[in-house]
Amino acid sequence: MPKVTFIGSDDKQTQIEVPVGHSLMEAAIHANINGILGECGGSANCATCHVYVESGNLDALPEVGVVEEEMLDATSSERTEKSRLSCQLFMTEALDGLVVRLPPTQA
Ligand code: FES
Repeated sequence: MPKVTFIGSDDKQTQIEVPVGHSLMEAAIHANINGILGECGGSANCATCHVYVESGNLDALPEVGVVEEEMLDATSSERTEKSRLSCQLFMTEALDGLVVRLPPTQA
């Protein structure tokens, strides 16, 4: 099963397995990763699942959609070129080894 590493704002790294087809947000909530809230349940409507994609097969990431693009302007922590909504990142085998960093705050 593909794996994703989450790096907390305290630099603690946690690697979890994410089933193909599941979103990173769902997997993080399931694994009790601190720093992902996912208040809207994954409908790209809250921006509390913001992550910074640090490394991995970046070409395999889906493009930022129209709704995601709008919500990324509403993140609590600074938006950068690495910003994504983890509820819009659905796991594929090609994304195995992805590393994402959690922002200092989601609310
Ligand atoms: S869970 Fe709400 S925008 Fe991702």
